[in-house]
Amino acid sequence: MGDRITRTLVEQAWDELEKTIMYYNGRPIGTIAARDPDTAALNYDQCFIRDFFPSALLFLIEGRPDIVRHFLEETLKLQPKTGQLECLKPSRGLLPASFKIATLIGGEYLKPDFGDHAIGRVAPADAGLWWVLLLRAYVISTQDTALVQRSDFQEGIRLVLELCLVTRFDMYPMVLVPDGASMIDRRMGLYGHPLDIQSLFYAALRTSLELLLPIPENQTILQAARNRLGPLQQHLRDNYWIDTDRLNVIYRFQVEEYGEEALNQFNIYSDSIPFYRLAKWVPEAGGYLAGNLGPSQLDCRFFAIGNLMAIIAGLTNEHQSHWILNLIELRWADLVGNMPMKLCYPALEDRDWQIVTGADPKNRPWSYHNGGSWPVLLWMLTAAARKMNRAELGHHAIAIAERRLLQDQWPEYYDGPDARLIGKEARKYQTWTIAGYLLAKEFIANPDHLKMITFEAQEAEDWQDPARTPGSYSPIAPEYQGSKS
Ligand code: GLC
Repeated sequence: MGDRITRTLVEQAWDELEKTIMYYNGRPIGTIAARDPDTAALNYDQCFIRDFFPSALLFLIEGRPDIVRHFLEETLKLQPKTGQLECLKPSRGLLPASFKIATLIGGEYLKPDFGDHAIGRVAPADAGLWWVLLLRAYVISTQDTALVQRSDFQEGIRLVLELCLVTRFDMYPMVLVPDGASMIDRRMGLYGHPLDIQSLFYAALRTSLELLLPIPENQTILQAARNRLGPLQQHLRDNYWIDTDRLNVIYRFQVEEYGEEALNQFNIYSDSIPFYRLAKWVPEAGGYLAGNLGPSQLDCRFFAIGNLMAIIAGLTNEHQSHWILNLIELRWADLVGNMPMKLCYPALEDRDWQIVTGADPKNRPWSYHNGGSWPVLLWMLTAAARKMNRAELGHHAIAIAERRLLQDQWPEYYDGPDARLIGKEARKYQTWTIAGYLLAKEFIANPDHLKMITFEAQEAEDWQDPARTPGSYSPIAPEYQGSKS
């Protein structure tokens, strides 16, 4: 595609993005999820916290931080500060999946959806984590440290983390969540410890070490974050990891082991894993983190967000990050095909689809969350590739997306094993499709922007020692330097 055509594409994408901006009391506050004139809006006319993330990074890059600041300030006000024990109200610390601007006689107000209106009544475990990551990006981009040091912001970060770190019914370092608690907001067998949430949780914990001031009210959370990071990182790197060597270990696992020395800690039964298919599919120099792990369950599906965010957040070590990218490169037809890229691979089919999704017609095999392809993932793929000095993967993916996105009117997702069909129920003019494309272009043009979202890999034992874990950026005011807890 010639330079001129690409320029037109980029200009059109910016024009479309501009039209998605929502105004609250006359000031820009976020972007609506989609502007499809032909499909019922449902809740796509709302601003979703997760969907706004790539748009927000673009506004920061463009030198328009006011939108992002306004978004952060107003969404923070929606976060409940009390009420842990009230079952019909959102928990303390939760951020809504989305909000809309409603009007009352006195003027406008924000009406949040914590899962009390959403299809399936799913509450978002990821919204608060994306919010914390966006706050970090805002601080890095603007150097506006005053905002994050405000006591309401310190409390907001603390409460997001507290909700993930509180006492729970398991003995693992991962965060325990119900099905449908993330971008995949429908039943997909992701209850328990899905990778997508663990990668975001890990990044948010790291962010808390950078953004929380060493003041008395933060001490408990800071210590809890330090205690959690090492075991969480180790656990994900060791027990979620799948490559040929690891497959050989799992294949020959003993079962019904009891006690501290157990190798097969989760009591995985060999028959539950499609070894022959996997041994053929995983390249010799490739690997990835499994989709979910729990008692007698190792979900070997590949999930893009968890794997790409693991690279971006430094959750995987250098070697693992490269092997994930090797897998994507060598299994390009499966994972990228005609539109970057699959949200999850492979699709659940037949009886598995019936049982696991509850026979969800929107998530039928190779559609939507169940093996559909989401152009929004272009920014994550490009960021992960660029971070590991493999920009060519990003270039290639962008070139593929450019063949279709404008002509197809920026669909939300594509269907089919090779992503040739516009998603059966996909919205057109989906905002994060537009933003995902533009952001990928920005990361290629100026890799310096990556610092807003990336973290360097650390050794697990380093997390206990503040001196050995400086943040990649520390917005702590000079008066606090040296006393970092
Ligand atoms: C769908 C997606 C969800 C997204 C929302 C708005 O519900 O599953 O991830 O946030 O649409 O685009």
